[in-house]
Amino acid sequence: MHGENGARAAIAATTESRDLYHLVRAAVSLGAADVPGWSAAERELAATAETVTAETVTAGSPLPSEAAIREQIQAGADPLGDAFCRIRPARQRRPLGQTYTPAPVVAAMIAWAAGQGTPHRVIDPGVGSARYLVAAARQWPHARLLGVDIDPVAAVLARGHLAAAGLSGRATVCLRDYRELRPPRIEGTTLYLGNPPYVRHLQIEPAWKQWLVSRAAERNIAATALAGLHAHFFLATAIAAQPGDTGTFVTSAEWLDVNYGRLVRELLLDELGGRAVHILDPTIEVFPDAVTTAAITCFRIGDKPAEVRLRQVKRVADLGALDGGRPVARAELAQAARWTPLVHLTPKLPAGYVELGDLCRVHRGQVTGGNATWVVARGATALPRRLLFPSVTRARELFAAQDRLTDDGPLRFVIDLPADLDELPEDDRPVVADFLTRARANGAADGYIARARRAWWRVGLHAPAPILATYMARRPPAFVRNEVAARHINIAHGLYPREDLPPATLDRLAGYLRASVAVHQGRTYAGGLTKFEPREMERLPVPALETLRHDPLP
Ligand SMILES: C[S@@+](CC[C@H](N)C(=O)[O-])C[C@H]1O[C@@H](n2cnc3c(N)ncnc32)[C@H](O)[C@@H]1O
Repeated sequence: MHGENGARAAIAATTESRDLYHLVRAAVSLGAADVPGWSAAERELAATAETVTAETVTAGSPLPSEAAIREQIQAGADPLGDAFCRIRPARQRRPLGQTYTPAPVVAAMIAWAAGQGTPHRVIDPGVGSARYLVAAARQWPHARLLGVDIDPVAAVLARGHLAAAGLSGRATVCLRDYRELRPPRIEGTTLYLGNPPYVRHLQIEPAWKQWLVSRAAERNIAATALAGLHAHFFLATAIAAQPGDTGTFVTSAEWLDVNYGRLVRELLLDELGGRAVHILDPTIEVFPDAVTTAAITCFRIGDKPAEVRLRQVKRVADLGALDGGRPVARAELAQAARWTPLVHLTPKLPAGYVELGDLCRVHRGQVTGGNATWVVARGATALPRRLLFPSVTRARELFAAQDRLTDDGPLRFVIDLPADLDELPEDDRPVVADFLTRARANGAADGYIARARRAWWRVGLHAPAPILATYMARRPPAFVRNEVAARHINIAHGLYPREDLPPATLDRLAGYLRASVAVHQGRTYAGGLTKFEPREMERLPVPALETLRHDPLP
């Protein structure tokens, strides 16, 4: 990449090359040359951008004017980085893990670091367009800034951004592999801040895998060649950093639970001095072009705190200054093969409360595998009534019922046939055979669900549940007493008491759930849908049985 034709090669392979050259030229015109540390590859790139854009200038630039770019940068935006991500398609950014970090995540990480003291230097190990460094410079007006990147395009953009933000005097950008960086020793502390690239081991050169294994071995840590690039960056940071330095990285959360992640986990429990890990729910979609669970790790080199805080974050707005989380003892973390399950432990319940799961199992309703075949309106089938089960088949039926379902008249039927059709009375067989012939012709036997069943025609409804709950909506779930023994399909959950409970107790349980459960207890998906999986619903706190048995509830 940095050879004779490095610059052209860095760009020429892309279909959007002209636009990228325009971008490089824009960075140069913002003053990129003033930020020290230029490499030969960048010089060549800038020279090429000059000629190419001059050749094609009549076609117009995809960028706003220089004045507009400057104005946006002054206002805290990163127009160069945003344009880079627009122009270079995601699939071409993937080999170098070029997914840039959204501003709220950068802000939360800087807020955490600000609580740790004032760094004298900030290093971003894969600087991209320098959005971290520029934000850090605004937080710490005297800190030196050092950005490293392996891509000459990114390095020039970082320079342009830093220059336009007025930071040329205290910034250096270095075109290098971060693993080779040996930052000069300084008086004072360094903050390692950034988003190490997510690149799978298949794309990592054997020599670097060997580097990982042998450098880890020097620290008595077993590393595997299967480690992703972010694990290499954690190790390189442990090598470069000094006691008292701090760090916060956002990465894929993979290292928390997979075997190769042991290297990162051991480093955090030892010399990297892990303080906290904040796991961002995958449904948040923090990174526009990478569907992954992200984790923000906070560390202070040389610390050996008795516990590390683990926290799940469901909304970017909840990141705050990366406080809070469940303290987990180092000894417990050292023994655990996976860290994510340790985040999910239920917070302590208040006295007198238990989890709903202690009283009831929660089961999602049956999947029919084809509602067009198996769910029918009243009067729409010739099948005998005993094969038709009034069922809740739409969440709105539960919302409409409010506290209790007292009339199954408005419900549709689910057709549930026995697996052994010989069990059917003689009289029913011709009409059932006729129905099945039509159902088969309509493809009902061929779907994935139908093929997985012992008999493709047996839906296998669950027993009626005395409390039914919706589990996905833009509002808290409806908890409805099921007084008509309706069945339910997979749009609802059924709450099945572990022991027989009298109706009055069930009423009070459903009433308590209706009054207490809030959307934030579920998982929120992009767009505001809140979902409660059965296991999540089982974790809801409810009064213990002794209390529920007495009226009124305290
Ligand atoms: C996930 S991006 C982060 C960019 C920027 N810090 C941000 O968060 O907006 C990772 C960056 O690391 C760079 N990179 C990839 N491999 C690298 C390596 N071995 N050494 C240094 N930088 C690398 C990529 O070019 C990319 O700019």
